[in-house]
Amino acid sequence: MLLCRVSVFFLCFWTSNSHYNIPLKIFTGKFNSSVDLDLSSLKLGESSLKQNETDSGNGLSLASDPSGTVNFLDMVNNLKGDAGRGYYLEMMIGTPGQTLNILVDTGSSNFAVAAAAHPYITHYFNRALSSTYRSAGRAVEVKYTQGSWEGELGTDLISIPKGPNGTISINIAAILFSSDFFLPGVNWQGILGLAYPLLARPDSSVEPFFNSMVRQTGIPNIFSLQMCGAGLSASNTADPAGGSLIMGGIEPTLYRGSMWYTPILEEWYYQVEVLKLEVGDQNLNLDCREYNSDKAIVDSGTTLLRLPVNVFNAVVEAITQTSLIQDFSSGFWTGSKLACWLKGETPLKFFPKISIYLRATNASQSFRITILPQLYIQPITDIDGTLNCYRFGISPSANGLVIGATVMEGFYVVFDRAQKRVGFAVSTCAETGGVPVAEISGPFSAVDVTSECVGGFAIREPLLWIIAYALMGVCALVLVILLVLLFLPCRRRRDGEITDQSSLVRHRIK
Ligand SMILES: *[C@@H]1O[C@H](CO)[C@@H](O)[C@H](O)[C@H]1NC(C)=O
Ligand SMILES: *[C@@H]1O[C@H](CO)[C@@H](O)[C@H](O)[C@H]1NC(C)=O
Ligand SMILES: *[C@@H]1O[C@H](CO)[C@@H](O)[C@H](O)[C@H]1NC(C)=O
Ligand SMILES: *[C@@H]1O[C@H](CO)[C@@H](O)[C@H](O)[C@H]1NC(C)=O
Repeated sequence: MLLCRVSVFFLCFWTSNSHYNIPLKIFTGKFNSSVDLDLSSLKLGESSLKQNETDSGNGLSLASDPSGTVNFLDMVNNLKGDAGRGYYLEMMIGTPGQTLNILVDTGSSNFAVAAAAHPYITHYFNRALSSTYRSAGRAVEVKYTQGSWEGELGTDLISIPKGPNGTISINIAAILFSSDFFLPGVNWQGILGLAYPLLARPDSSVEPFFNSMVRQTGIPNIFSLQMCGAGLSASNTADPAGGSLIMGGIEPTLYRGSMWYTPILEEWYYQVEVLKLEVGDQNLNLDCREYNSDKAIVDSGTTLLRLPVNVFNAVVEAITQTSLIQDFSSGFWTGSKLACWLKGETPLKFFPKISIYLRATNASQSFRITILPQLYIQPITDIDGTLNCYRFGISPSANGLVIGATVMEGFYVVFDRAQKRVGFAVSTCAETGGVPVAEISGPFSAVDVTSECVGGFAIREPLLWIIAYALMGVCALVLVILLVLLFLPCRRRRDGEITDQSSLVRHRIK
């Protein structure tokens, strides 16, 4: 009975704490060279890869051009950073403006800045020095896949030097405590959550940044992201790569070829529908629900391509076969070890392309985004002068497929909120040494995958909360009963008679 009661308590505790994860997951690119290297020498035989250069050609061009008053060219190159530590935007916060670098995260919905000193950041937003800061007197807390912070809600005015003109009033979470959120080597002091209100904390009444911006400046309800760190070393702090966050539309000079759109299934994360994965020419052939279990999202705040465990295992298996590289220690695939080659040797030609098929806006069609090994076999420098070391840019995930920065660096990605769709086109900066590292093509028939690849698995937060509250209600009821029972038998035992026939009581006094 005690066990039973303990498990009831545990259940109560668990449900009241069931947040769902905000997927921010950042890698610092710091490896301990004495333990993390996989120096097993690799025999570089003939590549078994036959790369099929089928081309898009007749893809639908659905790019929309800038409509009005915003000058997108002024926003080009307004980001700095890399996939490893995230891409950040310079913003002026408060009156007079305090300059802070803010991480661009399409996988969460709070705008939050450091409001107290922390060993890993150089400066923070000093609320006392802003004449326009207003505290809302409400606590707020966000937990990410990695890291968390706590703070206080307020509002203030912000402007973006390389953004739409004007000053807007937005909700700010002032970060007072954090753990594993600011990391060594990051050069940002806050986070800009660009997803939908449903993910905002403490609740969706806290209007997210981009909603406020669209409402107050009148720019179109769309933004687009180009991140240019492809093929650059993930630990090169001196010279961060660039990128662009175009607020209000699409800048045509940032992509090549056709823009392909996939519907946003639900407006919380940028949730999309993945129909198929290919490694090289090989279709993984999993049930398409595996790819979307429990969701598939596009998230600039996650470094790697994260795959549901079954999918991850199938991908590693397929890469191992295709690449003829079998003597890797498993540490490479799990991310705890680097693989190194002597300088001058390049391992990239031994790895296959990886293609993700997404549902097109015409539901009976799909298109595929393809990343070359240059994007997912990522160089890490400064380990040892004679070696080139790489890490695996794909990791297993327990909470869904995440198209993270590793993949996004190949594409110009359009978050077309107005039309509820995410667009992909090959990015103009997705090349290393003049060779493109990403491809996109379509249309492919998706009539064979007309059945929903999503559903059954997905648990939305409101539902989760309803379940949580319902369970808490049940818990409370059970507790009351248990308390009552705690007293009843004691009294009755003195009387020497047991009248209650319920099994609960019989068990309790056995
Ligand atoms: C690297 O790992 C070794 C062995 O565990 C340890 O002795 C050393 O202090 C580590 N170095 C760093 C920089 O963490
Ligand atoms: C590869 O290319 C050949 C001809 O170029 C084509 O017939 C074949 O269907 C392609 N295979 C794939 C998987 O794209
Ligand atoms: C902001 O306004 C200035 C002056 O009117 C203009 O030159 C500039 O292009 C505008 N910037 C943006 C991003 O629209
Ligand atoms: C959607 O795709 C199917 C199959 O390719 C095609 O027959 C149909 O005409 C398309 N519908 C629209 C509205 O383009």
